Amino acid sequence: MQKQVRIAPSILAADFAHLGDEVRAITKAGADLIHVDVMDGHFVPNITIGPDSVKALRSHSTKPFDVHLMIAPVEPFIKAFTDAGADIITIHIESGPHLHRTLELIKSAGKKAGISLNPGTPAETIASVIDCVDLVVVMSVNPGFGGQSFIDGQLEKIHLLRSMIDKCGRKVDLEVDGGINFDTAPRVIAAGADILVAGTAAFEGGKDAYANNILRLRSGSAHI
Ligand code: DX5
Ligand code: ZN
Repeated sequence: MQKQVRIAPSILAADFAHLGDEVRAITKAGADLIHVDVMDGHFVPNITIGPDSVKALRSHSTKPFDVHLMIAPVEPFIKAFTDAGADIITIHIESGPHLHRTLELIKSAGKKAGISLNPGTPAETIASVIDCVDLVVVMSVNPGFGGQSFIDGQLEKIHLLRSMIDKCGRKVDLEVDGGINFDTAPRVIAAGADILVAGTAAFEGGKDAYANNILRLRSGSAHI
């Protein structure tokens, strides 16, 4: 029997004028984690929200906050996000030279540490930090915007990372982020993902549709 994947809706696709309501609604609809995309206009060509927003939203959900930092430098901002209530903090392998030190900083604050790989970054690059992360995030779009198309070439990388994680003997989750919809979800699940991030597909159709969106993504079925 296939294991149950977890769904992490990205609030990037929510109504920004009502973020608290949206976080409550998507939690009620069955989200397993709340994915928060933080962008700086430098590491990626878009600007979103910062630690004050994470802090303001934290009380609107009982689910873990999965904070995806697309910023460089990243280390000076870790404390602000841990203080704001992030549960998992993911940094990009491409974001700077002191990856290991930043991951240790996240863990020393009692938080889970994640490492994310852009589409152009090979799977093997995580070999030297796999022993100190709790989460590996495969970007299946170039980070910066929601609503982009899934890059098929990343499926092979997901397979490869699945086997690297299985061999490492530690509990490390494999998350896939970008272009996840009812068509791509089953392929990503089959490739070995534990967690699917979904922005557009989770929030489409308004509040009444959220629960069914999550159910369909989780089951990997296009026809519920
Ligand atoms: C992209 C972000 C993703 C994005 C996902 O830079 O990291 O989390 O919001 O959005 P969709 O599901 O619309 O591709
Ligand atoms: Zn993300």
